[in-house]
Amino acid sequence: MRYLITGSNGLLGQKLTASAPADAEIVQIDLQEGSVTAGAFPYRRIDLGERAVVMALMKEFQPDWVVNAAAYTHVDGAEKERERCWRANVTAVENLTRACRRHHAKLVHVSTDYIFDGQNGPYSEEERPNPIGYYGKSKLAGENVLRASDIHFAVARTMVLYGQAQSVRPNFVTWLIDTLQKRQTVRIVDDQFGNTTLADELAEGLWRIVAANASGFYHVAGREIIDRYHFARLIAEVFGLDAALITRIKTAELGQTAPRPMNSGLRVDKALRVLGLSLSDARGGLLRLQQQLAPPMTA
Ligand SMILES: NC(=O)c1ccc[n+]([C@@H]2O[C@H](COP(=O)([O-])OP(=O)(O)OC[C@H]3O[C@@H](n4cnc5c(N)ncnc54)[C@H](OP(=O)(O)O)[C@@H]3O)[C@@H](O)[C@H]2O)c1
Repeated sequence: MRYLITGSNGLLGQKLTASAPADAEIVQIDLQEGSVTAGAFPYRRIDLGERAVVMALMKEFQPDWVVNAAAYTHVDGAEKERERCWRANVTAVENLTRACRRHHAKLVHVSTDYIFDGQNGPYSEEERPNPIGYYGKSKLAGENVLRASDIHFAVARTMVLYGQAQSVRPNFVTWLIDTLQKRQTVRIVDDQFGNTTLADELAEGLWRIVAANASGFYHVAGREIIDRYHFARLIAEVFGLDAALITRIKTAELGQTAPRPMNSGLRVDKALRVLGLSLSDARGGLLRLQQQLAPPMTA
């Protein structure tokens, strides 16, 4: 099978190529000059906002599936960089959908709990979206491109994605570990609730969707709902760091540019039942990460 993996230099993209089926033929694409995982698979620098370029690549490579891990993911930045955000989260999906239709490819796409308003989570796949910030609006518009199309597609919604990868922006977990290791104090909110998701498990979920030839919407995230403050304390405990450096605050005290869904969370029952995934709870995901970060045993 042939797979086009977009956003291959990102956190999820790197996990996707690392866990690809053994016989997969892959082309990776992203915005940077080269692949951060040099050598594993061929790489092309492509802006998915360029329709003709996307169409030409699809014609040349003729993938069976496109796995779309590319996105504009900066929640606060999206309020100001609206054009760039729309290009990555909507125009890119339009271009990929059109190209998949022409070349008979299937598409698995990734979305977010930010399409919900966070008034009454956790949410099932059927609940009505109502995004409250520009990032969420753009991600919902991306989903709607697929809903309106007649191609074979699946959408995996996830939230609070974390993990270890090369040259990616820090995520909540890697940032907190780094900060606590430097013995710096942090203020963490205790009023934002949701699932926390090890990127490796989301990648496994996407490959399972492909293997099962699944379509439609799936929530693929860690299986526990937890607030950020208690998650931060758990990170400190699992990684042997000083939890006394963590102060508990409210979201209102942060003055973030974009509003956040507060009582969010994704119900993952469908992914467990239909896809047969094993998704970790908050501690389990951190323990898996800890194993990856542990220095190799020497003889
Ligand atoms: N991170 C989270 O907490 C979270 C939560 C819920 C859902 N998600 C979703 O999960 C997916 C993967 O997220 P991630 O954290 O792995 O993202 P990431 O690390 O930011 O990777 C995304 C990659 O896509 C690239 N990209 C952006 N615009 C592009 C374009 N026009 N053409 C080609 N490539 C482009 C980015 O390049 P640049 O870095 O140069 O822009 C980046 O390398 C996304 O769909 C995201 O919305 C993430």
